[in-house]
Amino acid sequence: MSNDLVYSKNSNYYIENVNIKEISDKFGTPCYIYSKSNIIKQLTELQSALKDINHLICFAVKSNSNLSILKIFNDLGCGFDIVSAGELKRVQQINNNTEKVVFSGVGKSFEEIQLALSSNILAFNVESEDELVRINKIAKEMGVIAKISIRVNPNVDAKTHPYISTGLKDNKFGINEENALALYQHANKLNNIKITGIDCHIGSQITDLSPFEDAFKKISSLVDALEKDNIKIDHIDIGGGIGIDYNNEVISPLKYYADMITKHLKKHNKKIILEPGRLLVGKSGLLLTKVEYIKKSNHKNFIIVDAAMNDLMRPALYNAHHDVINLTNQNEPNNKFDIVGPICETGDFLAEDRLLTADENDLIAILDAGAYGFSMSSNYNSRPRISEVMVNNDQFTLIRDRESFEDLIKHEIKHLNT
Ligand code: LLP
Repeated sequence: MSNDLVYSKNSNYYIENVNIKEISDKFGTPCYIYSKSNIIKQLTELQSALKDINHLICFAVKSNSNLSILKIFNDLGCGFDIVSAGELKRVQQINNNTEKVVFSGVGKSFEEIQLALSSNILAFNVESEDELVRINKIAKEMGVIAKISIRVNPNVDAKTHPYISTGLKDNKFGINEENALALYQHANKLNNIKITGIDCHIGSQITDLSPFEDAFKKISSLVDALEKDNIKIDHIDIGGGIGIDYNNEVISPLKYYADMITKHLKKHNKKIILEPGRLLVGKSGLLLTKVEYIKKSNHKNFIIVDAAMNDLMRPALYNAHHDVINLTNQNEPNNKFDIVGPICETGDFLAEDRLLTADENDLIAILDAGAYGFSMSSNYNSRPRISEVMVNNDQFTLIRDRESFEDLIKHEIKHLNT
């Protein structure tokens, strides 16, 4: 189990210089806990791998959209990759200047496009001809020029879970590589469109980095074709997608990724935009939960905890693996358990078949939950969403309140007697 976030000292587990038990004593369970220095370390590692490349890192807001996390990235000069008006407004809470924001997604609505145009974002990553036409029309009505990249679907297999693979020609994302040039030529004729870049994102949790190389080669030849057609661009957006080690996956060093950028894209002399999410926050957060019951039978044992699939959906949705530590009891494991929540679905599990020892009230850490954890959580089974806590050296602070019952019903109660 490789984890830089949590370590044990005198039978207590720590994040940075905070005993995790103190966090649960103060804020209760379940909760998400993040380490500020770990996030900064991840970002610094990526920046240093890219030090010889003119680049901009646009943090993928969908991976963790907590305002305090966005603030860390903003303070360190990053931009943001957004996919909705809600994400844009979150970014605006941190920085009104959204000139480092790129807007991805196949279904941008009229209102979202208007908001992004009035915010003067860096670029729309256009995903269809209809979207291009819509953006041009709205920009004309507003009397502005829309800056765009076209998201190219390079038809490469990212070799990741099918739900999070986006660069195959059967996926809904981007413009097929064969049609991309024609769409650029179309865009070039539209009065309220300014072409500024090219974009591609092939999927998420990519552990074998070679699919990136295939994509970079294809993007590189398209950039050549654009140049031939006298279509000027300023940037090449290579998306996000670098995977992390959840279950002993071997991840190539970031230098290897940077070398591929250098080899295939540097010659074009454009700014390289990256949209990482998971790489920057995934290993910097955990889900802390408490054991409610132990339930044993002849053929299956369960640890029933107070967190559930609504808090961390990844295991239920993708069969994703998250390592687990019992923070209270480090005795030799005595049994294999499934760790499950209180939700009324068999799919409500956080981990399966883990060797552990556990008792009521033990604290369990579900590791590597900093990305796509809280941001995918819901109120299913009328469970209030849980709190989020940030550790910074020997301090820890709440960065999101636990929701209350009143929060759960506030949009309904007023309609009861109407
Ligand atoms: N850019 C675009 C256009 C994306 O669609 C995504 C992720 C990213 C960047 C960031 O990808 P990352 O660097 O985080 O891999 N819920 C799934 C992951 C969905 C990813 C969706 N798009 C999970 O929990 O594994």
